[in-house]
Amino acid sequence: MRRGHGCTADRGRRVRTVTCLRMTFVMAALYVPGHEHYAVDSLVGTPDGTGALGMTGEPLVVLDKVNKHFGDLHVLQDIDLTVHKGEVVVVIGPSGSGKSTLCRAINRLEPIGSGTITLDGVPLPAEGKELARLRAEVGMVFQSFNLFAHKTVLDNVMLGPVKVLKKDKASAERRARELLDRVGIAEQADKYPAQLSGGQQQRVAIARALAMDPKVILFDEPTSALDPEMINEVLDVMTALARDGMTMVVITHEMGFARKAANRVVFMDGGRIVEEAEPHEFFSHPRSDRAKDFLSKILSH
Ligand SMILES: Nc1ncnc2c1ncn2[C@@H]1O[C@H](COP(=O)(O)OP(=O)(O)OP(=O)(O)O)[C@@H](O)[C@H]1O
Ligand SMILES: [Mg+2]
Repeated sequence: MRRGHGCTADRGRRVRTVTCLRMTFVMAALYVPGHEHYAVDSLVGTPDGTGALGMTGEPLVVLDKVNKHFGDLHVLQDIDLTVHKGEVVVVIGPSGSGKSTLCRAINRLEPIGSGTITLDGVPLPAEGKELARLRAEVGMVFQSFNLFAHKTVLDNVMLGPVKVLKKDKASAERRARELLDRVGIAEQADKYPAQLSGGQQQRVAIARALAMDPKVILFDEPTSALDPEMINEVLDVMTALARDGMTMVVITHEMGFARKAANRVVFMDGGRIVEEAEPHEFFSHPRSDRAKDFLSKILSH
């Protein structure tokens, strides 16, 4: 099955110019080949019941009327969003539109004012052990990698499984080496983060997130701190994860990735979800004036 609409180097370059404008896209994608329009329920079913790309189509992350203020700023306004198992959702929108706050709310790095967020049917706990367990189920990959500088690559990946999941060291190491191999840096296992390129460090961060066997991984502009030649190596790893059925919410300004790997694009502006659609539909026929305006600025660069 076809999983995207392909991207060109031109598109990639065009997208990167958006960074200069300090605009970002959050893209979410639920990919089901052969369907022109975004319609989650119709996208996920297959005769064997597993769904396209291994998706089951069950709701995994559900935000219902979520509101949040920072003082007078109404940063999240009545956010309704459902991310289904196996779905890749790309979130895009201008700087300050609330994309990072939305991501941080999903693993409760930011408390919300009202509304509910559930993960696999369970409301987000407020604090304590339950919250720690939930955080283990929600992986997060940031722009700035956030690796422990004084630990080796291998130790960075093993740390969570050993300390939080209480795995024994031998099995944690075996799994960490497998994951480093999966993201293409097995040979860097004994180095320290500072000895790696930015792209390699971000791939360590992805391996570290995967080591916790999360139900969903949230990516907040994972490539925006990288030199251009390193962006693709990280996007390739993310695209492979998407193909393997990982549930992902991705804030990015890489439109090529959105077109290729996302099932759904969510466009935010001013703390609201203004529009959401299957990528081809969104990029070809944006419905709202704000999305049209946003895209026209991007496409003019
Ligand atoms: N801890 C905070 N305290 C007060 N205001 C905040 C805080 N964090 C974010 N904001 C404000 O909330 C708004 C949304 O911020 P957020 O980081 O979610 O935007 P964003 O869409 O991720 O932007 P960018 O594309 O620049 O990363 C911004 O106006 C920001 O200044
Ligand atoms: Mg942000």
